[in-house]
Amino acid sequence: MRVDRHFDVAVIRGDGIGPEIVEATLEVLDAVGSANSLTFGYDELAGGAAEYLRSGSPLTEESLAAVRRADAVLKGPVGLPEVRFPDGTEAGLLGGVLRGGLDTYANVRPVLLLPGIESRLRAEAGSIDYTIVRENTEGLYASRGLGVGNRWAMTDTLLATRPGCERVSRYAFELARRRPGAPEDGVRRVTCVDKANVLRSLYFFREIFLEIAEDFPDIEAECLYVDAAAQALVLGPEHFCVIVTENLLGDILSDLGGGTIGGISLCGSGNIGDGAAYFEPIHGSAPTIAGKGLANPIGQLLSAALMLEHLGEGTAAQQLRGGVARALGEGAVRVARDGSVPGGAAAVGRAVVALLG
Ligand code: IPM
Ligand code: MN
Repeated sequence: MRVDRHFDVAVIRGDGIGPEIVEATLEVLDAVGSANSLTFGYDELAGGAAEYLRSGSPLTEESLAAVRRADAVLKGPVGLPEVRFPDGTEAGLLGGVLRGGLDTYANVRPVLLLPGIESRLRAEAGSIDYTIVRENTEGLYASRGLGVGNRWAMTDTLLATRPGCERVSRYAFELARRRPGAPEDGVRRVTCVDKANVLRSLYFFREIFLEIAEDFPDIEAECLYVDAAAQALVLGPEHFCVIVTENLLGDILSDLGGGTIGGISLCGSGNIGDGAAYFEPIHGSAPTIAGKGLANPIGQLLSAALMLEHLGEGTAAQQLRGGVARALGEGAVRVARDGSVPGGAAAVGRAVVALLG
């Protein structure tokens, strides 16, 4: 007997193209939901740069409480380049409150070459298929808002704690168990990417990673310096299955990975902790193309697929991904080199709904 399932989803549409790509994604979610006896209630929360200008905070306390209550959180891109704090950093971002505040320590970023996408690398669909697990609560980002200095010098400190390194390493190995092996050889492996030859904090990260590896004898463990990893992700991306790395390194490498699979407009992500999770594209709010019928919702759609998976709705997640893959593979959706799509988010949403798995 099939039981109807209902999920309350907190929705933060965000800035720039956020509202368009989130709207298209909710339409696709509803279609996937009705095919799977799932219903969603959407709790719309303001968040981001526009909200900062309105209320003086990018996310009010009430909205944060609603985020905590929700079964799941779908977030669009936030931030506008001109909305800044006096210290020059952006005021409309939510990483501090949603990553640090909710302790969502694993930033899970799949890098997958989809059908119909012409990579600048010579590569077949599926030959690039790995997931970056970016440590999300410490690293250099722990210095967010805390940089110290004066007009002559400024310093930010990289934090690596034992529990922080342990839990993200463990997450990466557990993820490797759930994934197919690397496209190159089918081997389930986790690659720790660091700079252990130069920085003590990242040697520490590596040592703890190797300790945790002992609990996962069925998964291959290896280590790579970040400069070598940057080269390898271009020259031999099929080798990778799961990568675990420090926060800033993961930020950079996930855009590099995105660059090999047609651009970051195609990359979704999950920010996952033990008590909270939220799902968002890895790209920014692209305010220059907002409202012009060009916004690409694929990163947002793939984030929604990760959300479904996290809710235990793997079949629905696969259907959504299948719809995206078919829409691209059959040429119903074409992505320009700059990541935009002619027809915009609504047209992509309709194409995906028509081709759901
Ligand atoms: C990301 C983004 C953010 C980050 C920005 C918007 C602060 O680039 O999610 O990768 O650096 O973490
Ligand atoms: Mn980034």
